[in-house]
Amino acid sequence: MRDTAVLKYAAEQSIRLYEEFDRAPVAARASYEELLHRFREPLPHNETDPGQVFDELLAKSRDGMVIAGGPRFFGWVIGGSVPAAIAADWLVSTWDQNGAIYQCSPAAAVMEEVAGEWLKELLGLPPECSFAMVTGCQMAHVTALAAARQRVLGDRGVDVSRDGLHGAPRIRLITGTHRHESLIRAMRFLGMGTGALVQVGLDGDGRMDLGDLEAALQESPDAPTIVCLMAGDLNTGACDPFEEACALAHARGAWVHVDGAFGLWLNASDRHRHALRGVDLADSWATDGHKWLQLPFDNGYAFVRDREAHHAAMSITAGYFIPPDGAGRDQMDWNPEWSRRPRGVVAYAAIRALGRDGIAHIVDEGCRLATRLVDGLGDLPGVEVLSPARMNQGLVRFLAEDGDHDRRTDAVVEAIRAEGTAWFGPTDWNGVRAMRISVCNHRTTDRDVDLTIGAVGKVLAATP
Ligand SMILES: Cc1ncc(COP(=O)(O)O)c(C=O)c1O
Repeated sequence: MRDTAVLKYAAEQSIRLYEEFDRAPVAARASYEELLHRFREPLPHNETDPGQVFDELLAKSRDGMVIAGGPRFFGWVIGGSVPAAIAADWLVSTWDQNGAIYQCSPAAAVMEEVAGEWLKELLGLPPECSFAMVTGCQMAHVTALAAARQRVLGDRGVDVSRDGLHGAPRIRLITGTHRHESLIRAMRFLGMGTGALVQVGLDGDGRMDLGDLEAALQESPDAPTIVCLMAGDLNTGACDPFEEACALAHARGAWVHVDGAFGLWLNASDRHRHALRGVDLADSWATDGHKWLQLPFDNGYAFVRDREAHHAAMSITAGYFIPPDGAGRDQMDWNPEWSRRPRGVVAYAAIRALGRDGIAHIVDEGCRLATRLVDGLGDLPGVEVLSPARMNQGLVRFLAEDGDHDRRTDAVVEAIRAEGTAWFGPTDWNGVRAMRISVCNHRTTDRDVDLTIGAVGKVLAATP
């Protein structure tokens, strides 16, 4: 294929693939050895026709992909992609802009600036917040916690950007036991070390226990402290009591950070917003666009109330920069990366296409269908609902006649994947094995829920 013919071909093939997601078996079937055998070859020395390369990518990977963008992937909170976002993502690749500084790509910088404003409004966050558009919630944690570190040490006379952590008082990070491990990795990246972690227990509803939080805060009242709250427990969908927890933490001078990778999107929905009461009182927030907003990877966002601390933690300059013309925004002053794709353009396109109502509808439908799916599975013989659907999450397990429910749960989850209609993953929950259920794809319908319940029923009957 000459010149740009491969682009047209790739677009046609990609559209066909996207349409097939509804019908394809969800699990990958090819083994590691098979895939390696297909792809590994000596380093090519000569040119190959780009059309042939594209065909090889498609053919060799066909049964090696998990159809996580399809309507019956319920394993992790991954989310699908709406066509408007995929189209914009293609355009971003075609433009090949470096979204580091305004002068490198003025139009992209402005689209990202507007997308940031829209995101704050959709997510119900204070309009004065600064933001960063990063690869995912993991890097959003790193960005937001770097700002937190700057502030909590700055309040104690330490400029961490200049002096590093030498001689600085140790920062405590308080989390509930239900935290996502990406928070812990962010701590490690930022030199806080996992030894600085203080875990507090959960109440009967799976939310951070306020009595335990208060006790933890009182233990070393003068230590620089960051409290991390969850908007959406990864197993149960539980949300922490933000209003009360923020009041306790702020009374002790602590910074409050919220992991809202998917849960923060409830704020886009009139029906579900109540679960996040008080979340806007925090100091920083991390979330994903590649989950509920239905963007392709990789799109995550950090928001920080204290713009000065955020700027001090991230900003950079070099002799060869050209200052922004007028009020343009240099993303590099807020992001940890240097060169980067202007990924906010994809968020701009999706929000423009879906509108607030469209996004709210996706969230509402995901929550409704999660309830139907968890309840429907719970009605099957030998299924115990461990955590009823909350938000878009739920947990069930499969009971064994010999009492070894953990073994049977793992066996059934694996057998469901092998059957191919739907994809679920196992998890540890309160000391037992469980199957995790997440609904987070705009393509999931009632029919997908029915097909899945039917398939699980058949698998149960066939699995010892
Ligand atoms: C609650 C929560 N926090 C953080 C993350 C990490 O996000 P990412 O994979 O986008 O970096 C995830 C990922 O699924 C998550 O569910």
